[in-house]
Amino acid sequence: MANGLDDVVAADTVLSDVDGVGGHLTIRGHSLAELAGRWRYAQVVRLLFDGFFDDLPGDAELEKAIGKARVEVFDRVKPLLAQLARLDIYSGMRAGMAILPDGDGLADALRLIAAPAVLTPALLRLGQGETPITPDEKADHAGDMLRMLAGTASPALAKALDSYLVTVCDHGLNASTFATRVVASTQAGLTSAILAGLGALKGPLHGGAPGPVIEMLDAIEASGDATAWLSDEIAHGERIMGFGHRIYRVRDPRADALKAVVRQLGSCNETSSRLAFAEKVEQAALDVLRIAKPQRSIQTNVEFYTALLLEAVGFPNEAFSNVFAAGRAAGWIAHAREQQATGRLIRPQSRYVGPLPDLVA
Ligand code: CMC
Repeated sequence: MANGLDDVVAADTVLSDVDGVGGHLTIRGHSLAELAGRWRYAQVVRLLFDGFFDDLPGDAELEKAIGKARVEVFDRVKPLLAQLARLDIYSGMRAGMAILPDGDGLADALRLIAAPAVLTPALLRLGQGETPITPDEKADHAGDMLRMLAGTASPALAKALDSYLVTVCDHGLNASTFATRVVASTQAGLTSAILAGLGALKGPLHGGAPGPVIEMLDAIEASGDATAWLSDEIAHGERIMGFGHRIYRVRDPRADALKAVVRQLGSCNETSSRLAFAEKVEQAALDVLRIAKPQRSIQTNVEFYTALLLEAVGFPNEAFSNVFAAGRAAGWIAHAREQQATGRLIRPQSRYVGPLPDLVA
């Protein structure tokens, strides 16, 4: 039975490599450990875009151009914000991004990088009856995203969010990146391709997991017994959010990168007790999963510590997938350009297993 395209290689890429056995993530020749917490998001955007746009400027200029794109996107979506705020926060962001021009140039790409960072705080504020805050084109991308959310952004929180955006910027041929490449292979524009990625990212088996991780932590805290709560979920056929991966057979390296960021934040706010509790839940979940699924190595994935990090920097659960999209937009765009450059339409086959028509004599 054709099932989930496991182990099928559908693209050659210079962008990233996921080593699921060794537990390593390589992004354009750099290990995740080299990038996370050290490179800024704008630098990683430049790294991913290099060779895919003729007019790509240096890091500092690119950071400024992303700032300008935030202002441009805000001006474009402003008249629609009240309508978009009636949708759930992810659909509102996606609908706002759908009105952006559908070209292939750097300006198109930068608007798509800027849009989740602008739309998410604006829609969250409107949902709370507050006025959206205009972007500051001179601010750094992550810091401005937090400032548009809460009015201020401490350097520590801005750095933590920036590290998150870097950590999730690209990750091989995951479901949303594949969806993006399929659309790009038709030579549709970048907005069309990124909208496909957004659709795939939304589901709880992919980018929709971190919100439910917080719900799980809260439910376990209320129950007072992590092992019993988790075992009950498994007994009812539920999946434990933040654990398991199609490619990783060992711990997802992004989980450790994000945990280190949360730990650093813990020294300057109340995050440390939440982290200590989450670590206990993580250990209980790993024990329960080892007993329930002995044939499979199910380990912590990126979403578990994503949830703690995004909670600590001030985003509500329902916006976690939006922030994932804000980081992953860079990878999607680079993959779309890489796929367009091949000139090859992605068009696999299906095997017909339905009934045959009656033969007419
Ligand atoms: N909780 C309980 N059982 C699980 C889990 C889990 N989190 N993950 C895998 N399994 C079970 C699965 O039900 C299956 O059991 P059985 O063989 O008895 O039917 C077995 O393990 C198969 O495991 P697999 O083939 O390694 O897993 P998969 O490729 O089908 O699923 C996954 C990968 C990410 C969809 C899955 O692990 C899952 O649903 N995790 C929870 C949701 C989640 O955290 N998603 C975020 C993924 S990481 C973000 C990203 O990179 O996109």
